[in-house]
Amino acid sequence: MIPVSTTRPARTHARVLRADVRVALDGATDTVTLHGPVSSLVLRPVRGALRTVLDRLGGEPLPDDELYEGFTPAERVRAAALVERASQLLAHSVLSGDEAPLRRELVRLEQTARDAGYEPAPVDTDAAVRLSRFAFCRSRDGVLVLESPLVKFRAVLADRGARELTAALGQPVAAGRAGEGTGLGPQESLDVLAHLIGAGFAEAAGPDGTFASDTEPKLRQWDFHDLLFHSRVRSGRYDGIFGAVYPYQGEIEPRPAVKPVPPGEAVDLYRPLRRDIDARDPSLTAAIETRRSHRTYGERELTAEELGEFLYRVQRVRVHHTPGADSPGADEVISRPYPSGGSLYELELYVTVLRCAGLAPGIYHYDSYGHRLVLVNDAEVDRRSLLNVASRSVGFDVRPDVLITVTSRFQRMAWKYRAMAYATTLRHTGVLYQTMYLVATAMGLAPCGLGNGDADMSARVLGLDYLEESSVGDFLLGTPGQDPAIAGDPGPEWHMVNSPEWSLPGEASFAP
Ligand SMILES: Cc1cc2nc3c(=O)[nH]c(=O)nc-3n(C[C@H](O)[C@H](O)[C@H](O)COP(=O)(O)O)c2cc1C
Repeated sequence: MIPVSTTRPARTHARVLRADVRVALDGATDTVTLHGPVSSLVLRPVRGALRTVLDRLGGEPLPDDELYEGFTPAERVRAAALVERASQLLAHSVLSGDEAPLRRELVRLEQTARDAGYEPAPVDTDAAVRLSRFAFCRSRDGVLVLESPLVKFRAVLADRGARELTAALGQPVAAGRAGEGTGLGPQESLDVLAHLIGAGFAEAAGPDGTFASDTEPKLRQWDFHDLLFHSRVRSGRYDGIFGAVYPYQGEIEPRPAVKPVPPGEAVDLYRPLRRDIDARDPSLTAAIETRRSHRTYGERELTAEELGEFLYRVQRVRVHHTPGADSPGADEVISRPYPSGGSLYELELYVTVLRCAGLAPGIYHYDSYGHRLVLVNDAEVDRRSLLNVASRSVGFDVRPDVLITVTSRFQRMAWKYRAMAYATTLRHTGVLYQTMYLVATAMGLAPCGLGNGDADMSARVLGLDYLEESSVGDFLLGTPGQDPAIAGDPGPEWHMVNSPEWSLPGEASFAP
């Protein structure tokens, strides 16, 4: 097949200042500052042709011959250098084939990362083309945009024909026919395709008829949502507002640092004494080196005293900071035994008690301020539902003494952080897991973190609003049994490396 490249690219490829860029001119010093959503650019001195090109960029999208019209070769070189420098604050536009003033902007590509760049791709009219598996459309600032975690541009689908062409790319279609019925002319469709393929939103099938986003081994192993999440929770690839910016300050009240205790019967928990724990705890190294995941449990029941000690050492509130005259405007925060970004401590624990001496079976909220358990659900069927999901994660019917559901009060994080709030919550969940593992190990109990739980079902049985507070982690706890994976020889396929003696319990460990 003979590749047919798009024609008239210079006439249909235009540049324009992004709509979200503000231009500030200081006439006294000939300084122009371009204020973008996340970065600004100061240009100095801006006179003559440079001033003209900036004025033109602030109007309708213009192809190069109109952008630099009337310039001497030297002026054109300097103006092109300015356009290059301001690239992140400019958009690429694909224009219809009409002459001005009928000419329309079909698609606008806005750069979302500093190091972005693309060339329109040659398009073979017979080639099958399709959207990348990672591309998606959404409404942003009232317009339909096409985005992808693989692409450092955002395509604003300005024109109805471009929107319909994009929709047609939901399934493989011959490039030359993709624009049929969209209102775009054949050449206009090819122009838009050249940019969408060149940037990476769409792809042409390979010689075997497959698409790279389906078959290339690295891409194949990325789930759509995982790659999108990864691309947005670290700064650099996307131009959204990022970090501790308090986006809702003055508009929405922050959630209190301590969750209001839900209504229900409350049970005061045992409070361990620090000196007793100091006297019997193993060393930190002994706890770290002997920590294991346990999935079977002993004949002895967990006791309410052990559960009280465990929760106290893991999750109790140990400091409460209520901002006053000394720190006006500061966040209301608390402290717990593990670290938390911004001291926001958005995680809550719910304890499903299945077998515990001194505590009735039931699903309890842990009141970490009052160190109490508050009964939120006593239905046996709901305990079983939670346990069934945990059993699926483990691969067999587990019978822990308690199942701990970790929830997040999402708006605690989102009130302060943009883009990274949920990612930080997942990090906190990991921090909490390790704290639970180590405290359980130090106490001679049997811990196991789980990788999955049913956030909808647990929200229902815990009486929570899914969007306000729902589960992000699940953890099993019980008394240790004879776990064949732990006791004795692990088998010939396991090879101890780097100081095997480190994993043996020290003399001082496991007193209880
Ligand atoms: C985040 C996380 C998720 C886990 N998910 C599961 C799980 O769903 N099912 C399970 O049986 N074990 C789960 N585990 C336990 C791991 O399988 C275990 O930590 C790993 O095999 C290493 O063994 P060890 O903990 O005994 O050193 C999880 C552990 C973590 C930290």
